[in-house]
Amino acid sequence: MNTDLSLEQAPPISVPFQFFVTAPLFGIVASIILLAYGPAIFTSRWNLETLAVTHLLTLGFMGLVMCGAILQMLPVLSGITVPYVKPVGTLIHILLVTGIIALSIGFLASSPVLMNTAIGLLGGGFGIFIVVILMAMLRNKMTTQTLSAMRLALISLLFTVILGISLLGSFIWPDININLALLTELHIAWGTLGWVSLLLIGVAFQVVPMFQMTNEYPRWMTRFLPSVLFGGLVVWTIIKLSGIGNPWHIAAFIMLICISGYVSFAIITLWLQQSRKRKLRDTTLLFWRFAMLSALAAAALWADHNLMPGLINPEIYPFTLGIVLLAGFAVSVMNGMLYKIMPFLIWFHLQHHQLSLGLGRKYAIPNMKQIIPDQNARYQLYLHIIGILTLVLASLFPTSWLVYPAGVMLMTSFSMLSFNQLRAVRLYRDYKRRLQAASEATSQTD
Ligand code: HEM
Repeated sequence: MNTDLSLEQAPPISVPFQFFVTAPLFGIVASIILLAYGPAIFTSRWNLETLAVTHLLTLGFMGLVMCGAILQMLPVLSGITVPYVKPVGTLIHILLVTGIIALSIGFLASSPVLMNTAIGLLGGGFGIFIVVILMAMLRNKMTTQTLSAMRLALISLLFTVILGISLLGSFIWPDININLALLTELHIAWGTLGWVSLLLIGVAFQVVPMFQMTNEYPRWMTRFLPSVLFGGLVVWTIIKLSGIGNPWHIAAFIMLICISGYVSFAIITLWLQQSRKRKLRDTTLLFWRFAMLSALAAAALWADHNLMPGLINPEIYPFTLGIVLLAGFAVSVMNGMLYKIMPFLIWFHLQHHQLSLGLGRKYAIPNMKQIIPDQNARYQLYLHIIGILTLVLASLFPTSWLVYPAGVMLMTSFSMLSFNQLRAVRLYRDYKRRLQAASEATSQTD
C-alpha cells in the first residue's frame, strides 16, 4: 500500500461516516419517487419530480459521499488537519441533509418557501465546505496530483452551486430575466464533468493502485488530464457565454476534446485493472469496471447525439444519458469505493484504538473482508447493475412498465448498501467496546 499517507492525521471516524451512512437513504427515496410517478417521470426532463430524483442522486447520494470522502482524504493526503473538523463536519452535514430534503420536497410540492429554504441551507452548507477545504489546501505547501484534481473539482462545485442557486431563484421569482437553457447547460456540465468527474479521476489516481493493486496511472495522465479537462470546460463556457463565430461548432469541438480525455481515463483504468498482477476479483473492482463501461457508453451516446444523425430520439436522449452517466458511472464508482474505504477506516481506527489503549497488537481485529463480506457486496452489485440496465431500457421505452421493476431493484440495492454499512458500523462499535473492556481487565490484573 502507498506509504505516502499521513494516516495519523485522519479525522475521527464519525466525520466521514455520517456522510457515507446517510447517502444511500437518499438513493432509497429517489427510487420510491420513481415508483410513485412511474412512466410519468419520463414525460419531460423539466418535470419537478424528475428534478427531485436527479438531485436526490446528485446531491443526496453523490454529493454526500464526495464531501465525506474529501473531509477524510484531505488530511490523510496532505498531512493538514481541517480546523475543528468534528463540529464543522457535523454542521456541514446537517445543512446539506436538510437542504437536500428542502430542495426535493420544494420541487415535488412546487413550493417557493421550501425552495428558498433550500437556497439558504445548501448555499450555507456548500459555502462552508468549500471555504474550509480551500483554506486548508492553501495552507499546505505540498501538492499531489490527487490534491490538484480535488482543488479543480471544488472550484467546479462552486460554479455548479452558484448556477444551481440562480436557476432555483428563477423558479421562485419567474420575472428574473435569465437565459434558462444556457445556464442549465452550464450547470449540468460543471456539475457532472467538473465537480463529479474531476474528483473521481483525482481520487482514482490514489485509490485504484492502492486498493486494486494495479500499476500507477501513466505520468502524463496524472500530471495533465485534470488541468486539461478543467481548462477545456473554462474555454467551452466562455465560448457558450460569448457566442463567438459559430459557437455551436467551436463549443462542440472543445467538448469533443474533453470527452476524449474522459474516455482515455476510462480505457486506462480498465487496462490497469486488466493487467494487474494479483488477479483477485473483488466486488469494488467489478463496480469500477461497470462504471468505466458506463462512462464509455455515455461518451458514445453523446457522440451519437452531437456528431451523427442520431439513433436515439432527441427527446429521450437526455434521460438515457443522465441515467448512464449519473447512475451508471458516478453512483457505481462511489458505491464500489464505499466498500473499500469504510472497511479500511474501521480496520485502521480499531488498530489505532488498540495501540492507544496500550494493548499492543494482542487483540485480533477483523480484517477488511470480515467487516463487509464480499458476498454481501456482490449481491448488491448484481441488483445495482440489473436495476440500472432496466432503467436505461425504461428510458428508451418511456411509456412502458419497465420503470417499476427498475425502481424496485434500485430501492433494494440502495437498502442493501445501507444494511451492509450499518452492519459494519455495529461491528466497529462492538469491537471498540471489547477493546475498552480488555484494556480495563489488563489494568486491573496489573
Ligand atoms: C445548490 C445545489 C444545486 C441547486 C440549487 C440546483 C438546482 C437546479 C435547478 C433549479 C435545475 C433545473 C434547471 C431548469 O429547469 O432549467 C437543475 C438541473 C439540474 N441539475 Fe442541479 N442544482 C444543484 C446542484 C447540482 C449538482 C451538484 C449537480 C450534479 C452533480 C446537479 C445536476 C443537475 C442536472 C443533471 C440537472 C438537469 C436535470 C434534468 O435534465 O432533468 N445539480 N439544478
